[in-house]
Amino acid sequence: MLKPLHKTAFLAIAMLLSGLSSQAQYNTLWIPETLSGTTFNLALRDTFAQIVPTGQQTITAGINGKFWGPTLIFNQGDTVHMNVQNYLNDSTTIHWHGFHLPAVMDGGPHQVIPPGTNWQPYWKVTNNAATYWYHPHLHEMSVQQITKGLGGFIIVRDPIESALALPRTYGVDDIPLALTDRDFNTSNQFVDVPYGDSLLTNGVLHAQYSLPAQVVRLRILNAAIERSYNIGFSDNRNFSIITSDGGLLNAPVSLNRYLLHAGERIEILVDFAGQSGQSFDLKAFNSTLGGFIAGGESFPNGPFANYLGHADFALLHINVTAQTASPITSIPTTLTNNVLLNSASANITRKVTISDSTGVTSVPVLGPNAFVLNHRLFTIDHIDYQVPLNNTEIWEITSSSAFGHPFHIHDVEFNILSVNGLAPVAAQAGWKDVVFIPGKTGNTSTVVKFIAKFDDYSDITHPFMFHCHIALHEDEGMMGQFVVSDTAATTDVNAIKETGADFSIFPNPADSRLFVAMQSNDAKPYYIRITNVLGQTMYMLPQPDLSNGIDISRLKNGMYFLQLTSDPYKKSITKSFIKE
Ligand code: C2O
Ligand code: CU
Ligand code: CU
Repeated sequence: MLKPLHKTAFLAIAMLLSGLSSQAQYNTLWIPETLSGTTFNLALRDTFAQIVPTGQQTITAGINGKFWGPTLIFNQGDTVHMNVQNYLNDSTTIHWHGFHLPAVMDGGPHQVIPPGTNWQPYWKVTNNAATYWYHPHLHEMSVQQITKGLGGFIIVRDPIESALALPRTYGVDDIPLALTDRDFNTSNQFVDVPYGDSLLTNGVLHAQYSLPAQVVRLRILNAAIERSYNIGFSDNRNFSIITSDGGLLNAPVSLNRYLLHAGERIEILVDFAGQSGQSFDLKAFNSTLGGFIAGGESFPNGPFANYLGHADFALLHINVTAQTASPITSIPTTLTNNVLLNSASANITRKVTISDSTGVTSVPVLGPNAFVLNHRLFTIDHIDYQVPLNNTEIWEITSSSAFGHPFHIHDVEFNILSVNGLAPVAAQAGWKDVVFIPGKTGNTSTVVKFIAKFDDYSDITHPFMFHCHIALHEDEGMMGQFVVSDTAATTDVNAIKETGADFSIFPNPADSRLFVAMQSNDAKPYYIRITNVLGQTMYMLPQPDLSNGIDISRLKNGMYFLQLTSDPYKKSITKSFIKE
């Protein structure tokens, strides 16, 4: 962790050497490239980037680039196929945050992609138009792998959003902003800390960007390890929030501050009409945050000390320029008509607790700052809940922690029912996948309730996660898991003969495509894993569609093993084949 004395000296020297005006200290905001269509190729690599303008490059990890990754554009209704190639030196996972999809495609801690492996999940996009993201989720490695830069935006489009007169020219009047902060050591390398001294916007220090003098849309993601950002503008102007995490709000909500926690997204509209030539800052007004909100604390020293704690700082310097040819000039008054879940329809209320780790005896060695769910630390083999397929559930989170935690659940988007008995604020009265659980008040625990429907995807073997989205807390074990089970389907298992799990491979040897046929129509491939003779995984194919065979053109010539796990048995059989 960089200590204040050193950082001050570094900045002073840098300014002395550069001798530049304050205007010139800004760096142009980087806008990630976009990928669209239905097949998305993502190559994860260890690399380096010139993040600090002078001196050494920083060792980073990037997806198709040097830091962060491309913005994926999905259309609701499409089936998207992901081709995730792990060229990193480490195992990782890639989680599609906010998406409703089969657990085996979700990219949580169970879908480990070993180095050299190609993982090919796919799913039908049913999520609403909004801003989502993807990021690594390897247990106990999230802080490290997110710090290195792995992640990216996902934009979903749907007919309702497309019919609205909203800015959607990417990089011009529709701007993705991933907010995070980092520490750099004396040789410009990242240090894995919960709170960095330097704010990065899309991986850029002191970012500035030109925006046209009209209504502009900012898609803001809190991609931080821990910090919340209390978002506003330097002139205290109002902006209109149009989405919560998982979709449009019924109507824009006009505010001049919005507190965005780790993992959360909002899209805002801001009107720069008539302001060409002027400059403003998008800022985090974190000096107003209390000490029990991430980023509101001011630790003078120790592992949590940082320059941005309990301070106001710029997120983006905005220079307003001329209008574009066909500008959006007004903010719609209504957006959609959300049909939210009704608490009367709930089958069950699940009670989850958040508490300090004190008294949790099953814990090995923990720092004093660890927090736990349901009085236990996460272990990868413990399933907290079995949720019946199609259940509508109220999740009631009771927190005795003094600190606030952004609680996230996989598989579903939910509706907040209440926060300490009060209805959610207007900007959160839509679809969400992260809810902030404020710290207790005096000795009174916080109670937050949300409602969600667990439909479409059941899988008794692959769980979904729920956890605190502060990556440090998650890595320390503030996570649990549930499976969605289809009780009707599991009764059928015994009726099917075990031989149904057998299959044949052809041609063998094969050159570019390998075909696999199940011996019985009752069995379906659930998972295929192809390994080389050294046992290294080359391909991971969840629930593969085998009608066009498997593309094995990437493999070098030689012998390989194909392990097929079939549904409904989850029985695995391995056969060898030759690639020539
Ligand atoms: Cu964004 Cu389980 O994570
Ligand atoms: Cu998630
Ligand atoms: Cu937490």
